Amino acid sequence: MSSEIESVLVENRVFPPFANLVKEAAISGMQAYRDLCAEAERAPDEFWGRLARENLRWHKPFTQVLDESEAPFYRWFGDGELNISANCLDKHLDTPTANKTALIFESDDGKVSKVTYKELHARVCELANGLKALGHSKGERAILYMPMSIEAVVAMQACARLGIIHSVVFGGFSSKSLHERTIDVGATLVITADEQVRGGKTIPLKNAVDEALDAGGCEAVRHVVVYRRTGGQVAWKEGRDLWLHDVCANQPPVCEPVPVNAEHPLFILYTSGSTGRPKGVQHSSAGYLLWSLMTVKWTFDAKDSDVFWCTADVGWVTGHTYITYGPLAAGLTQVVFEGVPTYPNAGRFWEMIQRHKVTVFYTAPTAIRSLTKAAESNPDIHPRRYDLNSLRIIGSVGEPINPEAWMWYYTHVGRERCPVLDTWWQTETGAHMITPLPGVTPLKPGSCTLPLPGISMAVVDEAGEDVEHGKGGFLVAKRPWPAMIRTIWGDPERFKSAYFPPELKGYYLAGDGAQRDQDGYFWIMGRIDDVLNVSGHRLGTMEVESALVSHELVAEAAVVGRPDATTGEAVVAFVVLNRSLPEGDDAVAIAKQLRDWVAKEIGPIAKPKDIRFGENLPKTRSGKIMRRLLRVVAKGEQVTQDVSTLENPGILDQLSQAH
Ligand code: WTA
Repeated sequence: MSSEIESVLVENRVFPPFANLVKEAAISGMQAYRDLCAEAERAPDEFWGRLARENLRWHKPFTQVLDESEAPFYRWFGDGELNISANCLDKHLDTPTANKTALIFESDDGKVSKVTYKELHARVCELANGLKALGHSKGERAILYMPMSIEAVVAMQACARLGIIHSVVFGGFSSKSLHERTIDVGATLVITADEQVRGGKTIPLKNAVDEALDAGGCEAVRHVVVYRRTGGQVAWKEGRDLWLHDVCANQPPVCEPVPVNAEHPLFILYTSGSTGRPKGVQHSSAGYLLWSLMTVKWTFDAKDSDVFWCTADVGWVTGHTYITYGPLAAGLTQVVFEGVPTYPNAGRFWEMIQRHKVTVFYTAPTAIRSLTKAAESNPDIHPRRYDLNSLRIIGSVGEPINPEAWMWYYTHVGRERCPVLDTWWQTETGAHMITPLPGVTPLKPGSCTLPLPGISMAVVDEAGEDVEHGKGGFLVAKRPWPAMIRTIWGDPERFKSAYFPPELKGYYLAGDGAQRDQDGYFWIMGRIDDVLNVSGHRLGTMEVESALVSHELVAEAAVVGRPDATTGEAVVAFVVLNRSLPEGDDAVAIAKQLRDWVAKEIGPIAKPKDIRFGENLPKTRSGKIMRRLLRVVAKGEQVTQDVSTLENPGILDQLSQAH
């Protein structure tokens, strides 16, 4: 067990909920929470059915809540029909929310623009009408490769309005990743921008799309719709490429939402698994939106007066659930930010909270850790320099938040009067699963605390039996929930084997290790598979290895994670070249070349922090790479394990040299 996990487990500070928040909370007090949990357990169909009727607008009401006949291919509200965009926008039009600000957009260079719900609805309708006029319709797949912008939200909502299934590819991914995803979803439409702007730099997007589509296999793409963000130079393919403003021009600001079945896929989002290529996680319409909305109401205790800010990119699930869908369905005003937390300086987040009077702030531990470092070395951008009094709730997502980062966030950002909500969930779960509630849960730094009502999380052993509190095991969900992954796009067998291994009694296997303490609180102990979490981004070690071995100089590669004080984990690559062992400047130059190569193959987030060269990798006599040893070497620790089964023990010394 690493020393960090040990330090987490001896954590015994407890912070009771704040009286003012308990008083006004949607779920107020531990008893109210327990009652909801009991209701969900006693009569799950009634519980979920009630929530779905009370919180969604149905075009055709459902008669069955959960259909388990094809488990684990669960169907929720399966004979109902609705439209997701209508549930996020149209439902507000005949209420005072219509004229409320929906989005406050702040660009990289600090320009602010706002749209009301009415205006957002009109813009979504214009684009939907434009796409319809181009012949796109329900069931088709669209790839979205967009900068953070109002247009990105509009594009996602316009797809949802027509029943077009979107697959957003994070703007930091390479054209190669874009190419693979375009083929895998069978896209007929791409929506992108000329360039994106982050931290004062422009990065081409349309060029990457051209490269991806030219690489072959993407002939199904009929149109590329381009949002003009910077006016930078782009190549143009007549007939295929269209400016977004031209597509929308002269379109009426009203577009009838297309009703879809509750189970119609709303989106496909790629994420890393332990083996093979990234998998296309397929989400439903009704179940997904229901839980996105409920968690905005319960976890963030949404109030009409809130200014909500989730700092995630729409390229990740957090941006889907807590920017494009949940907060809009809840009628909140929210901030959408184009840039990065450190530009023009590392006070940007605090300055924006002050400027827009943000009340609920949701970010990632990596950001907190890097801003802590910056603030502690430069008092001018310390959060204490800013007026953060508007804040009432602060949240964290994406990776374990260590108690030190938690305390800093709580003390300096929350000023000891805002709860830190450490929300545990995944791309596959659609929305929050285990999280404190502001009006209910005593907090312990480093624990995501307790499951939401209706969510049956447990820690089990290899046979699916509950382990005692205090012992580690696999984190599972025993019962299905509405926002769960429906399948892996195009690969139902992989869906079954990855998430519902037969020995676990049909439970959903999250892929994380966890343990519960005496109070039943969950402590997440990191992935149990070969998935790394770098700055809150999931990366498969296999993906990085395949990228490395596709380079002409590389014969073999093994990738492991190493704990990192800022990014959580860092990528360390062990590489065997198909030439002599490089030394000195030569080694440094090749290491740089390989890093750039990985950035081009996958994206900059996958760049190995360390590259170690060896004449071989540590292998057993049967030829299996001993990753366990590589993890020790990557940490710079002395190998104390038995290496007698190693074919080539001497190789470990060679691999200890970083470049
Ligand atoms: C990790 C992001 C500890 C976990 C929403 C999970 C966390 C993976 C937490 C999913 C948390 C996410 N505490 N670990 N609060 N939140 N994780 O799919 O390992 O990008 O399996 O979804 O991130 O990452 P994903």
